[in-house]
Amino acid sequence: MANLEVKKLAKSYDGKNKVLQDISFSVNNGELVSILGPSGCGKTTTLRIIAGLLDETSGQVLVDQADVTKTPVYKRNFGMVFQSYALFPHLNIFENVAFGLKMRGLSKTEIKSKVEEILEITGLSEFAQKYPAQLSGGQQQRVSLARALVINPQLLLMDEPLSNLDAKLRLKMREEIRRLQQKLKMTVLFVTHDQQECFAISDRVMIMKEGRIDQYDTPQNIFHHPRTEYVARFIGYDNFIHFDQAQVIDNHHVKVGNISFESIDECEKAKVLTIRPENIEIVDQNKGDNTILGTIISNEYLGQSFKYRIKTELGEFQVEESRKKMRLVGEQINLEFPAKHLHALSE
Ligand SMILES: Nc1ncnc2c1ncn2[C@@H]1O[C@H](COP(=O)(O)OP(=O)(O)O)[C@@H](O)[C@H]1O
Ligand SMILES: [Mg+2]
Repeated sequence: MANLEVKKLAKSYDGKNKVLQDISFSVNNGELVSILGPSGCGKTTTLRIIAGLLDETSGQVLVDQADVTKTPVYKRNFGMVFQSYALFPHLNIFENVAFGLKMRGLSKTEIKSKVEEILEITGLSEFAQKYPAQLSGGQQQRVSLARALVINPQLLLMDEPLSNLDAKLRLKMREEIRRLQQKLKMTVLFVTHDQQECFAISDRVMIMKEGRIDQYDTPQNIFHHPRTEYVARFIGYDNFIHFDQAQVIDNHHVKVGNISFESIDECEKAKVLTIRPENIEIVDQNKGDNTILGTIISNEYLGQSFKYRIKTELGEFQVEESRKKMRLVGEQINLEFPAKHLHALSE
């Protein structure tokens, strides 16, 4: 497959409001990159411009260093999979998968061998003679994946391909996509609004906010070092302590209210401390720094753990604790924020 480079992409649908601003990134050959963000942030617009289905307002799309910005969609040789399967209902599975090859004028024998190979790889051989309506949603989505792959695309673009499937099937399909991607060494750009899904299968993740890229990094780096409060919130850091520069004691210490906090990160240019609910510890003794007294105002059973909302002098915190017995509403407890899990964010 190929590598993709997007340079300073911008898009306005009405000539006034920019729904994409200065989108620049690259995807390496054989890499699976996800675009993650809430509805309306510009994921589909980005993907459609790369696919050639939509004109950019400015910017460039390069594939293997060649500028394809003005190349029409049918000459791009990209595979595409959407949320809706968009199969031809009157064609059987073999014919659906063969369609793109027919359009490209391949011989009957070539078509037969390529389609059979891809049906085999995607586990669809036994359905070749069936019609889309005879298949489950998951199987139909696999057909649309097979159809995208059979043309041997330079790049595979997927826009929320799993959104129409139930939770269990989503898990299975995402593993399958990752397995195929690694087996065939595909370059994939995968759009989703599901954080777990994209962290599970991606080499790198791009988090979009209102038409811009907020952070682009490996899932591990984003998880442990979110760059902004927006990213942190999006990936489950439910606790935030805002501060200003007057409250910074030194580069790793901040005093908010009566409490001193030590953070693993540099605080001098930061504005907010954050920690994940499962990293806050409920401790017996208030040892002073990084510890705050609070009262449980709600409790929730999550299966492996309990989740509490806790009221403190610095506002409410969300805490997740694994323990045999649920703590009760009204109980007073000390929360400790271990410095190694307390991150300082500058935006
Ligand atoms: N055809 C269109 N005409 C005008 N505005 C559009 C059109 N398509 C999308 N938008 C707007 O562009 C923004 C980004 O949309 P989209 O790329 O579909 O976001 P996402 O896929 O992240 O949900 C949204 O504000 C949306 O309303
Ligand atoms: Mg979309």
